[in-house]
Amino acid sequence: MRGEYCVGGASFLSFVALLLLIFVHVGQINTSLVPHGIAMAKVNTSGFGQALNESIFNPIGGLYTTNYTSPLGEHNGLRQFYDFGLYSYCAYVNSSAGTCTNHTIANNFEPYTAMKSDMLANYSQYSDSMFVNTTFVNSAYLAYNSRVAYYFILIGTIFATIALFTGVAKRALLFFVSTASSIMAALFILIGAAIWTSIVKKCEDINTLEISHLNGGVVSGIIVSYGNGIYLAWAAFACLAAATVPYMVSCCTFRG
Ligand SMILES: *[C@@H]1O[C@H](CO)[C@@H](O)[C@H](O)[C@H]1NC(C)=O
Ligand SMILES: *[C@@H]1O[C@H](CO)[C@@H](O)[C@H](O)[C@H]1NC(C)=O
Ligand SMILES: *[C@@H]1O[C@H](CO)[C@@H](O)[C@H](O)[C@H]1NC(C)=O
Ligand SMILES: *[C@@H]1O[C@H](CO)[C@@H](O)[C@H](O)[C@H]1NC(C)=O
Repeated sequence: MRGEYCVGGASFLSFVALLLLIFVHVGQINTSLVPHGIAMAKVNTSGFGQALNESIFNPIGGLYTTNYTSPLGEHNGLRQFYDFGLYSYCAYVNSSAGTCTNHTIANNFEPYTAMKSDMLANYSQYSDSMFVNTTFVNSAYLAYNSRVAYYFILIGTIFATIALFTGVAKRALLFFVSTASSIMAALFILIGAAIWTSIVKKCEDINTLEISHLNGGVVSGIIVSYGNGIYLAWAAFACLAAATVPYMVSCCTFRG
């Protein structure tokens, strides 16, 4: 009887983990309510225009666009908010209206490339020199790490699915599979979440960067922050790690 409870508990935790991971995957695939609300990383560029204005003594015209449907990456103007998901990113002109890029497997997290591709070249020539040597502009580093993290999260999600479905079968061998899958899923999600946490943390160097010494110092006006997708991934890891205990107990005592 106790074994049944263990299986039930483990299955429940695996189910919750899988649900959380599905939410992580749908983040920013389009602008509808749920995907809009989930991101791995968020970049708020609202203060950048002002900062640029203060550091180059030129009124900034046409830096931002207010046309939320205009396509991204075509120098149509900067958006206020850039939210990055695992398959695409979306950019918003206010809290609700925005547009997304096409979907790609293992989409690269390149926040500065995204910003630059929307700005006119005469503005990005300033930001290129102001942001030099920050992790935020190191797109090659961020792209590589986000791709690696994506595959860890994808494989972790697959293992979590295997753990859930093999865990309900009443067979000793399958039970061993679900225990092993649960451990692997926890490990892969842990690594994926840790990589994402680390690269976003490093990008935060832009938040406090002084781009000019005029007026007693002008800060970049760009704010990078963790998206809730990272927290969802950590929560999924916690569920998967917790599920391994009842899976193991059931595996050894109930079915074994
Ligand atoms: C974006 O940053 C500005 C300051 O640069 C701040 O006033 C605003 O609240 C931020 N918006 C969000 C949604 O974080
Ligand atoms: C906004 O951008 C779209 C797509 O480029 C374009 O069709 C539309 O005319 C633009 N709207 C305004 C008000 O400029
Ligand atoms: C955001 O912008 C869109 C299009 O310009 C507008 O329709 C909408 O009311 C705005 N939303 C908010 C919350 O300002
Ligand atoms: C996005 O997809 C559309 C439709 O498939 C295509 O026409 C467009 O060129 C793509 N854009 C990019 C940047 O790949």
